[in-house]
Amino acid sequence: MRTRTLIGSLSAVLLAGAAFLAWDHTDEAHAQDKPQNTPAHVAAALSASHSGNGNGNGDAAQDAVRRGLYLARAGDCIACHTAEGGKPFAGGLPLQTPFGKIVASNITPDRQTGIGTWTDAEFIRAVKEGRGKHGEFLYPAMPYTAYAKVSDQDLRDIKAYLDTVPAVNNKVEANQLPFPFNIRMLMFGWNLLFFDNTPFRNDDRQSVEWNRGAYLVEGLGHCASCHTAKNFLGGDKAALQGGALQGWYAPEITGNAYTGLGKWSTDEIVEYLHTGGNNRSVASGPMAEAVTNSLQHMSPADLRAVAVYLKSLPGSDRKAPAALAASDATMTLGHALFMANCAACHRSSGQGVTGMVSSLADSAGARAPDPANMLRTILIGSRGAVTQSNPTGAAMPNFSWKLSDGDIAAISTYVRNSWGNAAPAVSADDVKKARGSLGAQMAIGVAQSQ
Ligand code: HEC
Ligand code: HEC
Ligand code: HEC
Repeated sequence: MRTRTLIGSLSAVLLAGAAFLAWDHTDEAHAQDKPQNTPAHVAAALSASHSGNGNGNGDAAQDAVRRGLYLARAGDCIACHTAEGGKPFAGGLPLQTPFGKIVASNITPDRQTGIGTWTDAEFIRAVKEGRGKHGEFLYPAMPYTAYAKVSDQDLRDIKAYLDTVPAVNNKVEANQLPFPFNIRMLMFGWNLLFFDNTPFRNDDRQSVEWNRGAYLVEGLGHCASCHTAKNFLGGDKAALQGGALQGWYAPEITGNAYTGLGKWSTDEIVEYLHTGGNNRSVASGPMAEAVTNSLQHMSPADLRAVAVYLKSLPGSDRKAPAALAASDATMTLGHALFMANCAACHRSSGQGVTGMVSSLADSAGARAPDPANMLRTILIGSRGAVTQSNPTGAAMPNFSWKLSDGDIAAISTYVRNSWGNAAPAVSADDVKKARGSLGAQMAIGVAQSQ
């Protein structure tokens, strides 16, 4: 009883999860530097193992490395474990938390500073249980809470692949948090409260495809680390029903037809995940990074499985309110401003241009309960995902200098209540706050609201 209270309050002091899960490695330029095709070292390792290593295991070893590359991409290990401009997997990328910095580890096979001396079992324990080589607790900025669902075999393959990566001597001081957050032991309490380490189990009532989708979404894909809201201690709330992160909002991705993917066809979801955009939406920010580094490399069959699983989830019970009337004063102003500033690209129908300019019509993203993405896009502009199938990635300019808080509120309210959308209005005060927290410039020559 007493231990419980102690552990509970230590965790409360920490607010650990909320902070440590809210990592920020969003940097689109950085994402675009990442290797796209089979990296040279993997090709080299593959041909070396193919030419035989004398024990007759060449083909098996080659298959493991190839599977491992695919799985490491599905898990997006490179996103966090590679510093800007740094060597792949050599660590050093700082993940910002409100309590300080956690730096991702060197997971190249270097024997001094990487994981070159680690056994498969130690590796599996780190990725699935969040424990270092000597049993020390890792912070959940490393998404072991999701990877706990990954099979040991898949992790052995990932390790086989990582063993082929060039070893880089790069000493990383992972834990740069101030006292008391630097005490790894505190994660013991957090794990007790929030870490569900039950392995993935097939649901026999569902199809093979559905189960594959569930395995990928809940495990390597770690979609919940962004798309599931966290409680004040960082534990998960309702699965995949939308969550805020670092000035972005990762929308609901269940079958809910109002704020989720209910109206997206399976093909539309596959196209979005594979190319970074479709006739409904274009991925930007953290999602663009996930598509560029990870999802675009997945097989069509796996992406389909992900789509089938997501669409089957009932999701939240959010329902559309009545849309504001087109004759409403804010709507009239919003319409005029939209025609003058936005319609050239998004078209007066709001439908945009497939794969390039997001559609705002009948859009779950546009009517999300939290308008963060719309406000940040208008205030600081945005760039769509860059993928093999869409190598340029369209960009949207910012309007902070041109439109007042009141104007942006009116346009946002108009978009959220037009072309099949209905959602609560956005106030000038919401825009003011977003402008402040994004550090966006003030509108030129326009008296700010209030
Ligand atoms: C969202 C960011 C993120 C992703 C994605 C990620 N990691 Fe990590 N990982 C980290 C951070 C941060 C640490 C250091 C945690 C700490 O020091 O407590 C870490 C630590 C590790 C460690 C322990 C290393 C050591 O020296 O203790 C291993 C092994 C590891 N990660 C493997 C992986 C693999 C394999 C993948 C992909 C399947 C992956 N990580 C994906 C952030 C990430
Ligand atoms: C690093 C955080 C992060 C991860 C991990 C992530 N997402 Fe996203 N996702 C986002 C954000 C933020 C958006 C909103 C992007 C935008 O508006 O352009 C988004 C948007 C989406 C959308 C479009 C929704 C809409 O209504 O427009 C889909 C579909 C999606 N994500 C699926 C997934 C799946 C499936 C996974 C796991 C395989 C995943 N995401 C992992 C952050 C993330
Ligand atoms: C020069 C062309 C252009 C203009 C003008 C433009 N946009 Fe965009 N907009 C884009 C492109 C391209 C994207 C997709 C890129 C992305 O998502 O990063 C986009 C995306 C968006 C998104 C989706 C953001 C997300 O990812 O969730 C919203 C909302 C949006 N625009 C609203 C507006 C509004 C409101 C205006 C007028 C104030 C406007 N746009 C003017 C090109 C434009």
